[in-house]
Amino acid sequence: MKHIGIILNGVSGRMGTNQHLVRSILAIREQGGVLLPDGSRLIPEPILTGRNANKLAELAKKHGVERFTTDLDAALADPYNEIFFDASSTPHRIPFLERAIAAGKHVYCEKPTATEYAEALRIAEVAEKAGVKNGTVQDKLWLPGIRKFQLLKEQGFFGKILSVRGEFGYWVFTGEHEGQPIQRPSWNYRAEDGGGMIIDMHCHWRYVIDNLFGNVTRVFCKAATHIPQRFDEAGKPYACTADDSAYAIFETDTGVTCQFNSSWNVRVRRDDLLTIQVDGTEGSAIVGLRKCWAQHQSVTPRPIWNPDIDSPIDYYANWTEVPDQLHFDNAFKIQWEMFLKHVAIDAPFKWTLREGAKGVQLAELSIQSHEQGRWMDVPH
Ligand SMILES: NC(=O)c1ccc[n+]([C@@H]2O[C@H](COP(=O)([O-])OP(=O)(O)OC[C@H]3O[C@@H](n4cnc5c(N)ncnc54)[C@H](O)[C@@H]3O)[C@@H](O)[C@H]2O)c1
Repeated sequence: MKHIGIILNGVSGRMGTNQHLVRSILAIREQGGVLLPDGSRLIPEPILTGRNANKLAELAKKHGVERFTTDLDAALADPYNEIFFDASSTPHRIPFLERAIAAGKHVYCEKPTATEYAEALRIAEVAEKAGVKNGTVQDKLWLPGIRKFQLLKEQGFFGKILSVRGEFGYWVFTGEHEGQPIQRPSWNYRAEDGGGMIIDMHCHWRYVIDNLFGNVTRVFCKAATHIPQRFDEAGKPYACTADDSAYAIFETDTGVTCQFNSSWNVRVRRDDLLTIQVDGTEGSAIVGLRKCWAQHQSVTPRPIWNPDIDSPIDYYANWTEVPDQLHFDNAFKIQWEMFLKHVAIDAPFKWTLREGAKGVQLAELSIQSHEQGRWMDVPH
């Protein structure tokens, strides 16, 4: 059994607490660590770091974590802590990563790695030059719905894939009405704090499209700030300076065109908060977060346009849900286990800071496309 110290920074936030501390690191500890090929087990030993000692103490107590501190330098100076992980809000990421890399730590972090491509690329180079292992969260790749889609694709279900339509979003309350509290942090709607739909979600769409459909070669994007004022955690009104919706088309080197609508101002009447419709010559699929529905050419109904009568076809019929053939672990946990093996036994790990930078690149080009009203090439 080997123990490995992991600094979890900015961990009292939404993602840090739920996905990384509870559902990943603590879940890995509960299952007895990560099993290595030689039969031994790697046990992550977290130390929680942040600015607020009371919050950290409360979080540590609630989850039975022994180590926490507001003294990040001390945590970085301790050779027991081999990995530094950051889930703080985006603008703080690079300075934290720089400190950790300078201390010789392997680094792993949430996306986006930065708000500017040059910075995202620079930190990837700094990590590479220092020779430390590095990674960026690309969790959507391990969602059960996406893994089911990949199975269909590998089995040739789609024939030639023609087009992809991603519909992402839901209604995020403005905080205006007491009975409807906000359900996302207010910094998400302020550009100066690293917020914005494009920087948040186009990072995800980059690795989703690159890995599933083809490398993104061009983007056209129209952004909007549909709601100009929201209310923060303290109930105070603030100006929304970041985009809250983005309507984008991505071209790929396989010829598959991908469209993604992303919005925090839409009410949901579809199968999930993210659905990706994939249409191919032989079959189609609707990919949700956990589920995936497929319709083969042989059972495709034959609609005839006639607005004078109610549709004789139930368009939800003739879709088959891909069954759960295995237990799907939490997507963040799966990637954590891979990163831990990468550090411990040099197992391959493709989702580096350099890969993360590609997401920031696409976000930056999407914003430029919106500002300039034109298609942007995505250089490789
Ligand atoms: N992978 C995903 O699907 C996904 C989803 C949501 C958010 N994120 C990313 O995760 C990050 C955190 O987002 P969130 O929604 O959890 O936000 P959040 O506001 O809930 O959490 C941010 C945390 O960072 C801490 N923090 C801020 N400044 C700090 C500093 N100087 N030092 C130490 N800690 C500091 C805050 O106290 C808070 O605990 C963002 O970069 C966001 O883009 C990723």
